Amino acid sequence: MKRIILISIFIGAVAVYFIGGFYNVSALKPHNSIVESLAHITKHRSIRKHAKYIAPPLTTVDKKLLKKGFDIYDSKCAQCHGGPGINESELTKGLYPKPPRFPDDLEYDEIGDKEIFWTTKNGIKMSGMPSYSQTLNDDEIWAVVNFILKLPELNEEEYKDYKRTLILNFSYNRN
Ligand code: HEC
Repeated sequence: MKRIILISIFIGAVAVYFIGGFYNVSALKPHNSIVESLAHITKHRSIRKHAKYIAPPLTTVDKKLLKKGFDIYDSKCAQCHGGPGINESELTKGLYPKPPRFPDDLEYDEIGDKEIFWTTKNGIKMSGMPSYSQTLNDDEIWAVVNFILKLPELNEEEYKDYKRTLILNFSYNRN
């Protein structure tokens, strides 16, 4: 009986805390450590589970594909995720959670091609990570996935080389 009363008081207090508006949703104030860990675990487990049965295409990762991935990455992702030689943008200074900087903050042993594909296609709720399902087709998403997997090998100059390289015979012209 005592335990039931204590559990009821605890649930009541948690409800008052959240429903009563006491939890501060300001982007300037980080989550408390319990909410932070719950959000982190939920995100990683959810991505892993949903990406499990995705079959990556058996395309050859050549220069043309990487250039296609670079063009998409540089125009759509770099303003949030950075890259070799790219400074933090004004947008990301005020974002919470902060977008991980690629490649340094990406846990490549935890998140692989399928997980990057799923996240790019679906986005992540309650964060600044958009879903690209309406703006990129699957081939384009796989191209950007392959470029992100290549990122750890690139230094600033090599990243810039991709910008200078011109490969025109693919049809990437979406916004
Ligand atoms: C407006 C900012 C913004 C843009 C643009 C953006 N992202 Fe993100 N992205 C985020 C944020 C914020 C997170 C972290 C979300 C979280 O931790 O809850 C994230 C997370 C991710 C993750 C998961 C990383 C991890 O460690 O779990 C991947 C993969 C990713 N983004 C890929 C992309 C790709 C590919 C593009 C471009 C096609 C892109 N993002 C564009 C903000 C952005």
